[in-house]
Order: sequence, then C-alpha cells, then structure tokens
Amino acid sequence: MSRPMPDAQAIERLVIFGATGDLSARMLIPSLYFLDADNLLPKDLKILGSARTQMERAKFVDYVHDVLKKRPEGLDDAAWTRFAERLDYRAADVTSAKGMDAVAEHVGDKPTVFYLALSPSIYGAVCRTLDEAGLACGECRIVLEKPLGHDLESSKAINAEVAQVFEESRVFRIDHYLGKETVQNLLALRFANTLFEPLWNNLAIDHVQITVAETEGVGERWRYYDDYGALRDMVQNHMLQLLCLVAMEPPADAGADSVRDEKVKVLKALRHFERSSAQQMSVRGQYKGGVVEGRQVPSYVDEKGAASDTETFVALRADIDNWRWAGVPFYLRTGKRLPERRTQIVIQFKPLPHLIFGERAEEDVAANRLVIDLQPDEDISLLLMNRRPGLSGNRLQALPLSLSLDDGGRRRIAYERLLLDVFSGNQALFVRRDEVERAWGWIDSIADAWADLGMTPKPYAAGSWGPAGAFALLERTGRAWLDE
Ligand code: BG6
Repeated sequence: MSRPMPDAQAIERLVIFGATGDLSARMLIPSLYFLDADNLLPKDLKILGSARTQMERAKFVDYVHDVLKKRPEGLDDAAWTRFAERLDYRAADVTSAKGMDAVAEHVGDKPTVFYLALSPSIYGAVCRTLDEAGLACGECRIVLEKPLGHDLESSKAINAEVAQVFEESRVFRIDHYLGKETVQNLLALRFANTLFEPLWNNLAIDHVQITVAETEGVGERWRYYDDYGALRDMVQNHMLQLLCLVAMEPPADAGADSVRDEKVKVLKALRHFERSSAQQMSVRGQYKGGVVEGRQVPSYVDEKGAASDTETFVALRADIDNWRWAGVPFYLRTGKRLPERRTQIVIQFKPLPHLIFGERAEEDVAANRLVIDLQPDEDISLLLMNRRPGLSGNRLQALPLSLSLDDGGRRRIAYERLLLDVFSGNQALFVRRDEVERAWGWIDSIADAWADLGMTPKPYAAGSWGPAGAFALLERTGRAWLDE
C-alpha cells in the first residue's frame, strides 16, 4: 500500500546530484533561489549539492553565488543570505553505497528529494545505490530528467530499475514544458471556457500545427545530441506533451491521474508509422551554415567536427485514430537554427461551408484560426472575419481577437513550478511511466521506418524553415504552415 505523501513543509532535504553541471546552473539553482526569495520553499529545507569533485562548502556557496550573479535579474542581498544558509556540499560517487556515505550522513532519516541531474544511463544504478545506502526511505522522492532512454526498450529498462526502489508515486519525471505557464494555460483555455469544447473535434477543425522553432544550434551539446537528434530530443517529450494537451478528452478533474489517464489515451490512439508511409509523412533535416538573426553560423557537421546522420529538424504528420480526431492531421515541426524562436500551436478551423457575400468577398475570406503562442510571446489570438467598414460593398477582413498573457511580471522559470510540485507531492505535471513508454513506442515506429528506408536528413540552410519537404508535407493536401 502506498504511504500518504507528506506535505511540502515536511521535506527537509533536497540533494542535487550533478550540482555543478549545466542543468543545475541554468535551471535548478536559479529556480530554488527565486522560490526562496518569495518564501515558497519548505521552511526547514537544506539544499545539498553533490558531484564527484571534492569541494568545501564555502567553495560551493561561492559557485552558487557566481551562478546567480550572472543572471539578469540581479541578486537581493537579504534573499541571498537566507538562501546561502540552506546550502551545503558533499562529494559522492553515486555508483557505490560507500561513495554515498557523506550524503547519507547529511541526510540522515529526513524526508528527502533526490534530484538526478545526471546521465539517464546511470539512473538505475543510482537508485540501487540510494537503496543500499539506506536513503530510499518511504517519504523520499526522486526526480528524473529526460531523456528517459533512447527507445522503448531502454526506457522500460530504466523505469523497471527505478521501480525496484521507488514506487511510482515517488517518481517525478520532468518534462520542463509542463512547467511553462503558457502550457498550463492550455488546460485553462480548453477547460475553463465553454466556447471551444463543442468545436474541438473533426467536425469543426481542419488541422492542427505545432511548431517549436529554435535559433540556437547544437553547439557544445553535440556529444549528447548526436546520439538523439530532434525526434528523440524534442518530439518524444515536449511536442508529444503539447499534442496530448490539445487532443485529450476533458478529464474529470485536474488531479494527476485524471489528466495523465487522458494523455495516455491520446498516445494509445497515435497511428504508428509504417515503412510504406514514412516518406510521405515525415521529413528529416540537418542544418548547413547560414545566417540566423543577422549572424553567420556554422553547419551542424562543422560544430561537431565530423560527418553525421543526425537530424536537427523534423516535420511530421501525426494522426490520432479516435472519434474526435479522425481525419484531422496534427503537423509537428521542430528544429535548430530556424529563423526565429517560436513555440506555437495553431488550431485551424474548417473553411466556410458557403459564402453568402458574393464573388468579391471570396478573396477576403479566411477560415477561423486559434493561435496559441507559448514563447517567446505569450498570447492567444482568434482570427475572426469582419465586414470592412465603409461603402465598399460586401468586402470582408480577417482580424485577430487577441489576449496577452504577459502581466509585466517576471516570467517564472518552468522549474520553479515543478520543484514546488515535487515538494508538495503533486504529480499532475510529471510524466507517468506508461506515458513515457507509450511515447517511445510511437517514436520507435518513426525511427524504425527511417532506418528501414535509409532516410537520411536533407540539408537546410541555417536561418531557413527547414528542407523543402517540410513545406510539401502540408502542400500535398492544400495546406500551409502559418508562417508561409
Ligand atoms: C530541451 C532540449 O529539452 O529543450 C533542447 O534538450 C532544447 O535541445 C530545449 O533546446 C528547449 O527548451 P525551451 O524551454 O528553451 O523551449
């Protein structure tokens, strides 16, 4: 029987393994500092940084100070003093119980969150070590970062090893997109308005586009990235999460399992790729040199310093085989070194069944469209047809009805929300084991079809919207990406 979750205040220790790594510096340390500055951390929480390197506490505190100093928000002296008091550091070898002695001594029997900012290939080993070191107590939780595996088989293996030590209610698999304010707002948009639900289906919607475009290249991350590529790095997790939130049935409540049950149903209904259709349904690309935001940038191969068949761009058509979505393609597109940073969902409604305003109005008319901008802009706009004012006859114009979600305040880091939820034991924004495995099953069908067909990435110039095939993917059915 699973034990009840203690409330957030009961958590007294957060141990970050990999505390001096990139994730910790960019996301975890700043998020914890901002939460503390707003008095949102559990009162008695101590934060223990851990990595292989031996380091005195003072040196770690200096390191954290430097990390925070570099941020644009600036450091508040009183908040920093309070935060620094929470910090401590112990070196550890996470692969042996003996190597955890110093951590075990610090943690004692306190309710603890273990954050594994480490390579997922050692998650299983670390869980075993925590167990052997007596650290996997009933009130402890574990936070895992993506990528959980490289395919279905490896993700099942990791999940099984973790499950031997931590029951599912103690496992928090992060997908940081779920912590973004605008992503959560998708749920509010869909389920706090009566307006959309009757239209949210294949009777009214023509297709859906989901774009996650980045201007950055792979840079120093190519060692990891070259093994994964855009399909596994972005589609398997962030993009499928967005697709699920758009496509899922209304859950009975916002509880963790109610929401995750509905997402799993969508993943189950995703049509697997076949060798016979993969060429028509997907496009792989890899950036060449080019100009992005006015800057000349090198090709992926030059960044890596060796030839590679890894895709830095994917566009594909996903079909959800259920009553609501039969016949409604979901077009997904993501890539590095694209012309602009943009995460956007477009719900394209069907064209008018019949126009009553005559021939001249025909060229004015556009189908309604709901555009949800997730980043960098945070707004929602609904494209509506209007009459052009004046005496020009029955002419029409399309105008956006806009709603900005930017309240002028600091935009919270997605990890702030997620860390708070780990402390309070709320798993609604974390990925359940069956969810991650279903997602991998679908991704494997694509990767296998690509391998069978020998489909290597097509080149695209950095600063463009990907290879020509990405346009053809929609043009074939008389559609177009919104930016065209
Ligand atoms: C990460 C991917 O999960 O998400 C990166 O590994 C990607 O390759 C990043 O750049 C994008 O996140 P965001 O929050 O900047 O859109």
